[in-house]
Amino acid sequence: MTASSPFKSRTISVVNDLSIEEQLYLYNKTKELKDAVLNKKDLSDFKLNDKSIGVYLIFLEDSTRTKESFRNAALFHDVKLNPFQAEYSSFNKMESYADTVRMLSGYSGYSIFIIRSKLEGVCRWLELSVGKYAKRNNIPPPSFINAGDGKHEHPTQEFLDEFSFYEHKNWNLDHIHIALIGDLYHGRTTHSKADGLNIFKEVEVDLVAPKELEMPEHYIEKMKTNGFKLRFFKSIDEYISQKKIADLWYFTRLQLERMGEDIRDKADYIRNTVTFKKEFIARLPPKVKFFHPLPRHREHPTIPFFLDNTEYNGWEQQSINGYYTRIIELGMTGGKIGSDFIGKKNERSESTKDFVERVQPSPKKKHDFKIGIIPITNGLVIDHIGKGNTKESIWDHINNIRRILNLNEIGSHGVFQSGSKERYKGIMAFPNILEFDRPNMKKLSAIAPGCTLNIIKDKNVIHKYRIHMPPRIYNFKEISCKNESCISHPQHSEKAHTIFYRAEENIFTCGYCETPHKFKKIWSL
Ligand code: NCD
Repeated sequence: MTASSPFKSRTISVVNDLSIEEQLYLYNKTKELKDAVLNKKDLSDFKLNDKSIGVYLIFLEDSTRTKESFRNAALFHDVKLNPFQAEYSSFNKMESYADTVRMLSGYSGYSIFIIRSKLEGVCRWLELSVGKYAKRNNIPPPSFINAGDGKHEHPTQEFLDEFSFYEHKNWNLDHIHIALIGDLYHGRTTHSKADGLNIFKEVEVDLVAPKELEMPEHYIEKMKTNGFKLRFFKSIDEYISQKKIADLWYFTRLQLERMGEDIRDKADYIRNTVTFKKEFIARLPPKVKFFHPLPRHREHPTIPFFLDNTEYNGWEQQSINGYYTRIIELGMTGGKIGSDFIGKKNERSESTKDFVERVQPSPKKKHDFKIGIIPITNGLVIDHIGKGNTKESIWDHINNIRRILNLNEIGSHGVFQSGSKERYKGIMAFPNILEFDRPNMKKLSAIAPGCTLNIIKDKNVIHKYRIHMPPRIYNFKEISCKNESCISHPQHSEKAHTIFYRAEENIFTCGYCETPHKFKKIWSL
């Protein structure tokens, strides 16, 4: 029997699926475990030791360290280990991820799935869809652990990296100065750093990459939002030509397999900018340590082999730490480790402001339109549609409102000047509609935020609402994530229901792969 743990059935799709307190709990438990193993202490408190727990390794992309450290961690726990042979599975018969994993989750008392895939957001989707299946079939909801999804995130690599930095800093979390070097565009292990480094109180990050491999803008933004101090360099040479050099260097491999032909043609030049060379040693400050998630290229390693036997080598301990952190991750999600955790988990913070704002109708004004809609006696008027946008985009809004809300009633609509000459807005009027319910208002807020809704009776506005952008948009067949690698992208036929969360005014992120979209881009009309 396993003791209760707040981590059982939890999914780790991204680093932030564990709060900072939870991440620190994981690191401190890992420290205890590593010490117990190295000093040959009793390990039974760390072990699941339960054959009713099934650990599935589903690797749809190549892997050595992540897969083998998880496999060995599962063997440590003495649970039921199920390696999954994706190449001989029903994936080849066009079975969906959701269907495959639902079935597998019925074969153990409780399951933990470790999944690596080219598709982004898979674990988030499975948490949702298999969670429902588990409920229907009265089995405990499985835990899903992301072992790397496309170029999105690699949370368990991040946990072992942060544990290694924490260990290297002699368990001091006051400050970290780190250089991230190499393929910052495709390297999911560097993307996860945008949240993972948050365990340190003060964070300075130097991003060293040529322009072809620069970190995507939204991760840079995330780092800034998290208060990291950032600097940018195009090559190691440029980096060590200035005075303030980090004492931790995190190298990554050039992920040529994810790059297009044009970049691949420049591989030699690009590699040269981020490869460490012997002559750089003389320019390094004392006590610099190198880390790397590995693998390194056997012909063109960015940390060359001559460094193996030097004080710079931090990557060997780092990769060994993967075994320890993953034992703890399985122990936590398996329900054995965690009952002594005191702290909070992360909850999605959403604006509590209602997106439907009831406003006082202005006192009756005499209508004196030179152009525009003839005032109606009774009915519904949607005003201020797309105010301030171009005429074309306001027409789009009007058409979308009609189409998505199925407003086929007789009425009139148009684009008109609003106040000053160059400002426009849309108006729609429906004499036969005397009510407009909240679900429809919700839809309207997702299509034309900023508009107002007026219910007119006997020529008076009796109810008036201002419609703001909602905190999330879902349940429309007309929205979709535009990242082709996202599990919810229509081309993968997984039928994951699209959901967007508002990150900031006008920006929505996909609920699976987290790709940011400008509001208008979420629609596929
Ligand atoms: C990394 C990965 O797969 O994202 N490797 C790993 O998990 N240790 C980095 C890489 O492939 O270069």
